[in-house]
Amino acid sequence: MQTDCKTIKKQFEKSMAEYDKNAVIQDFTAEKMLSELLKFSNNFESVLELGVGTGLLTKKASNVLKFEKYFGNDLIEKSENYLKKYIPSADFVCGNALKIKVPYKMNLVISNAMFQWFDNLEKGLNTISEYIAKDGILAFSTFTPENYKEIRDITGLTLNYMSKSEIEKVLTRLGFKILYCEEFRKNIKFSNSLEILAHMKKTGVNSLSEKVWDIKKIKGFCDKYSQKYPELSLTYSPIIVIAGK
Ligand SMILES: C[S@@+](CC[C@H](N)C(=O)[O-])C[C@H]1O[C@@H](n2cnc3c(N)ncnc32)[C@H](O)[C@@H]1O
Repeated sequence: MQTDCKTIKKQFEKSMAEYDKNAVIQDFTAEKMLSELLKFSNNFESVLELGVGTGLLTKKASNVLKFEKYFGNDLIEKSENYLKKYIPSADFVCGNALKIKVPYKMNLVISNAMFQWFDNLEKGLNTISEYIAKDGILAFSTFTPENYKEIRDITGLTLNYMSKSEIEKVLTRLGFKILYCEEFRKNIKFSNSLEILAHMKKTGVNSLSEKVWDIKKIKGFCDKYSQKYPELSLTYSPIIVIAGK
């Protein structure tokens, strides 16, 4: 489905207060991505983080990376406060990550759980590649087509995910060397189907639909979920990529 920055911004903004407590998979990918990145380098002159959000990755990056200059970007103005809470010297670049003006080419571009919101990841990677200096690194996590398969099954709503091999092919075509690429499968279990909707809301994922659901629609969703997936689990399929330019 098509995504639009206005809806994404609105839904994430609403989830900010509860995001960190609920974003367990995003916490895992941020941690794992950094530990894999550290195997190649921990020292970068310039770093650009795309989609800072509440600074879940920023906080971890500030503890393990060395840098001269850190730039953070997000659609949401409030993200600047989170960025500066963890890295006071950082510069905030507000707006669509694919339309920002980057002051110079970066040695590291990093992003956690954000690229799945691009309508066309191939085009997105093409643009982002232009932000990276020669010998620079692109480190990101996103999700592959099995992500939220239960939600797609029940509502028909899904994002334009790319598979691991498609991502690898695109990056290779753009001249990157894949240094690390691993896909994971994680399931979160819930005690009732309403909790699944609440979990999505608290992690900003209700940006999948711009419309507010009425009681009838919510009940229909919950009934179908418990019939089709009585174990009440939700599938996540994160992928972590480290690529060198
Ligand atoms: C799931 S949150 C991830 C936040 C953070 N990176 C983390 O590690 O938890 C996705 C964030 O990306 C931002 N975002 C989504 N699409 C974007 C775009 N095209 N440009 C800039 N930010 C975007 C959202 O506003 C949101 O803050």
